[in-house]
Amino acid sequence: MQKKLTFLISSGPTKEHIDPVRFISNESSGKMGSALADVAIMKKYRVIFISGPVDTFPPNVELIKVTTALEMFKEVKLNLNKADIIINAAAVSDYRPVKTYKHKIKRRNSRISLEFKRNPDIARYCGKNKKNQVVVGFALETENLVDTARFKLKNKKLDIIVANGKESFNSKVTTAHIISNNNILEIKNKTKRFIAKRIIDETIKIFRNIAYCQNIS
Ligand code: C5P
Repeated sequence: MQKKLTFLISSGPTKEHIDPVRFISNESSGKMGSALADVAIMKKYRVIFISGPVDTFPPNVELIKVTTALEMFKEVKLNLNKADIIINAAAVSDYRPVKTYKHKIKRRNSRISLEFKRNPDIARYCGKNKKNQVVVGFALETENLVDTARFKLKNKKLDIIVANGKESFNSKVTTAHIISNNNILEIKNKTKRFIAKRIIDETIKIFRNIAYCQNIS
């Protein structure tokens, strides 16, 4: 029997705690990641879903809940080889505090400084370590959308990058560019579900092409 195609999808924000009640994070509802998982499940694929803290999770996935970027990175590395298609839809926090305080920081001083350290780039790790797998990333840009996304596609060794502007936050419809090495597809004012379907279709096309090239070589 043929093995079920497996998707590894990261979704939602990561939260990096400064003290027990404060953290830095990114704006992310996790809706795009959920839409991608729903489409893949509908098509009867296996979905390993690694999610940062959000309110709801998609049904029927193998759910792994994480909080920080380091936890997400660990779970992605552990599950990477189980997947055929890896979609990095999470809004990973770029930095984490060097020190996490055990107790709530008191409001004593008029100024405080905190030091932050860069988090690992999870999508880049997946791109650099892929073995006949398809790796997808997202790029939310406020300027030079397509050019910046194309640079990230190459720099992170991704197969697809999905670029959108910040108007996609919490909105029902959005405009996205699905960019691969030799193609660019612009989808205007469509639901996240519609865009998710197109992304899944594109990943399967590329995956089949990789498998075909493997077979004839
Ligand atoms: O933040 P940036 O625009 O570089 O994000 C592009 C892609 O890289 C996204 O898919 C995001 O999930 C991923 N990323 C990551 N780890 C980071 C930063 C971004 O996987 N530390």
